[in-house]
Amino acid sequence: MAAYEYETHEYDVVVVGAGGAGLRATLGMAEQGLRTACVTKVFPTRSHTVAAQGGIAASLSNMGPDHWQWHMYDTVKGSDWLGDTDAMEYLAREAPKAVYELEHYGVPFSRTEEGKIYQRPFGGHTTEFGEGPAVQRTCAAADRTGHAILHTLYGQSLKNNAEFYIEYFAIDLIMSEDGQCQGVVCWKLDDGTMHVFNAKMVVLATGGYGRAYFSATSAHTCTGDGGGMVARAGLALQDMEFVQFHPTGIYGSGCLITEGARGEGGYLTNAEGERFMERYAPQYKDLAPRDYVSRSMTMEIREGRGVGGEGDHIHLNLSHLPAEALHERLPGISESAKIFAGVDVTKEPIPVLPTVHYNMGGIPTNYWGQVLDPTAEDPNRVVPGLMAVGEAGCASVHGANRLGSNSLIDLVVFGRAAAIKAGKVVNPDEPNPVLNQASVDAAFERFDSLRYAKGNVATAELRLEMQKTMQRDAAVFRTAKTLAEGVEAMTEIAGKLDDLQVTDRSLIWNSDLMETLELTNLMPNALATIVGAEARKESRGAHAHEDHPTRDDEKWRVHTLARAHGNTVNTIHINLSYRPVIVDPLSTEDEGGISLKKIAPKARTF
Ligand code: FUM
Repeated sequence: MAAYEYETHEYDVVVVGAGGAGLRATLGMAEQGLRTACVTKVFPTRSHTVAAQGGIAASLSNMGPDHWQWHMYDTVKGSDWLGDTDAMEYLAREAPKAVYELEHYGVPFSRTEEGKIYQRPFGGHTTEFGEGPAVQRTCAAADRTGHAILHTLYGQSLKNNAEFYIEYFAIDLIMSEDGQCQGVVCWKLDDGTMHVFNAKMVVLATGGYGRAYFSATSAHTCTGDGGGMVARAGLALQDMEFVQFHPTGIYGSGCLITEGARGEGGYLTNAEGERFMERYAPQYKDLAPRDYVSRSMTMEIREGRGVGGEGDHIHLNLSHLPAEALHERLPGISESAKIFAGVDVTKEPIPVLPTVHYNMGGIPTNYWGQVLDPTAEDPNRVVPGLMAVGEAGCASVHGANRLGSNSLIDLVVFGRAAAIKAGKVVNPDEPNPVLNQASVDAAFERFDSLRYAKGNVATAELRLEMQKTMQRDAAVFRTAKTLAEGVEAMTEIAGKLDDLQVTDRSLIWNSDLMETLELTNLMPNALATIVGAEARKESRGAHAHEDHPTRDDEKWRVHTLARAHGNTVNTIHINLSYRPVIVDPLSTEDEGGISLKKIAPKARTF
């Protein structure tokens, strides 16, 4: 192996990733005076949160009555009773505080006539515990809410002296012999230097792994890097079989058209011009949750009512909305529709198709963001020195299906929670942990083996094989047959990681090597997804199993834990185990909490 010299950096906290969760954690840590570094493979304001459009959920009641308990109830029901109840209560209760903090940090929210934060309806958000009309709970900055949040949080983090290491790629975690996280090994992409970050707390905020699929709204950078590092450290990934398809990706390009478009009055039609959602979800129609709408669209297409020459997509209609409303509330998607579908939304419908959008699963954590290493004796055992937040983590507030606009609020509530917890458990006066050199060396060894990989399969070729297999076999609807075939195919594909060929050996802007490292991260995420899906013999949220069409709470109201094991540095096999769902809320009814009766599992209709 080539010897790699490296620079060592010491911090109290190192945050990996600079999207909404990473920046909110970074800001919260730095505000408390913790020496905080944020390491990111892209410039912070290019992180994928920049693409979040429709808004951030919080029961502010600016547009009509709302209550955190209604938000919590919707989240529980949205999750198809797989979310952890303590975390869902924390999310709904803290959401208004977290949004007002964003406002005070300077996020330029859209405004009502009275100057309050503007809120729009989103799918699955209701009043009166699912009995009343849809609620306007999603706080918006036009249709560029993520963009507004990201820029504000980056500015505030700089103001609070957080230090940024930009275009540094995290290779692997540094773990002690007894399982404490001590830091992370990184490669600086623009000059080829190597860096070891030693910290008392590492926070993984690396986003999702949408690029495990062929067609996704996710940026090409969404390669599950945190999940990959965690899997290689022998830790578990949780509930990976639950992959969200957003109903309205632009047909062909997969670009997101916000659910806010339906929130503002848009609706879906089939080839007969019928507003078919009225049949599937009579109460909330186009504002049913995403898993519901995506399945309904897929059924319309399957039954021959899709639009277009090949009858393989659906129309999203906005042209009945006033042009000023489109201009003021939905300027971004009006432009995307023009560029990516050639459509003038004031005159024509947008061709759309359910498209991979979000990973409900991820690195298991408690609601403080502390990573869990569950055992049979202690399902809530904490990994010292390691946190995960945002889409990389699984708290789990989204369970089997996330509600639209609950992602941005998850980022800021749990980024903030991680900072609150770190303020309690990280002592800046204590020395940093002594690094486990064997773990540092192992990271360089893996890096070097990929840099000099001389196999027969190009990275792009293997990535495409993985993406097409996942798209085909772990789709909106799954069957025992597609899943079994998918597991077999993906096992073979993952095996080819040992036969990779990297042609560029340089260290400066070597995109061949970076994409190879990313592929080694995508692969355990993808394999855990399909193996977990094959094993789960029920339908719940985004996991629609045609051979097991009903939810089975007795057997399957459990979190899947997937651990990757390999014979070599890259080869992967997945072992599954299960962990109970946390069913107790944080507070009792006497303490002002939600009634247990209200959130007891029941049929999920809209
Ligand atoms: O449709 C959207 O604007 C996406 C929002 C989300 O995923 O929360």
